[in-house]
Amino acid sequence: MKNIVILISGSGSNMAAIVKTAQREGWQDKFGARVAGVISNKAAAGGLVFAREHGIATEVLDHKAFASREAFDADLARIIDRFEAPGEPALVVLAGFMRILTPGFVARYAGRLLNIHPSLLPAFPGLHTQQQAINAGCKVAGATVHQVTAELDHGPILAQAAVPVLPGDTAETLAARVLTQEHLIYPRAIAELLYKKA
Ligand code: GAR
Repeated sequence: MKNIVILISGSGSNMAAIVKTAQREGWQDKFGARVAGVISNKAAAGGLVFAREHGIATEVLDHKAFASREAFDADLARIIDRFEAPGEPALVVLAGFMRILTPGFVARYAGRLLNIHPSLLPAFPGLHTQQQAINAGCKVAGATVHQVTAELDHGPILAQAAVPVLPGDTAETLAARVLTQEHLIYPRAIAELLYKKA
């Protein structure tokens, strides 16, 4: 059984899309894969409720309780590894997990650590991506699923989706349009990866 561990910080709508797609497409039978755990660095993350309602084990690890990034990441890795099936490294999926990860953490999960970022990378890494796209006069915006490497919001691109930037768009209206595409490309990119590994 290949276990998928999803890391969130907020509403967890990408996580929910992945869980729903996994159930609808029968990833357990197709790929021997399931979403085994959801971890949040915020106790109030709305996505935790969805995960619990869907029978998925949840953990909260408050980064504010740690003196350093290294200490937080070490505990995070311990929790992730508890979700691993014997002999089967887990797939670690960042879904709105708003933490910068240490190089050691990234190296530990190299090749099985994915992220979604709400821009057409390599444009607009970091925060406030939609406002940056509007300010730059972009006619299209979008989202990128990528392998995580030590450099923030970089790494091999697995999937992208583009949406138009419409006259009168605000960062919020554009983000909502992009998010609907994120919910399609993230589950699809994970399924493709599982298919290759199955
Ligand atoms: C998504 O738009 C995701 O791309 C973004 O946070 C949102 C989380 O929404 N991630 C980043 O900005 C990471 N740099 P969700 O919690 O509803 O999935």
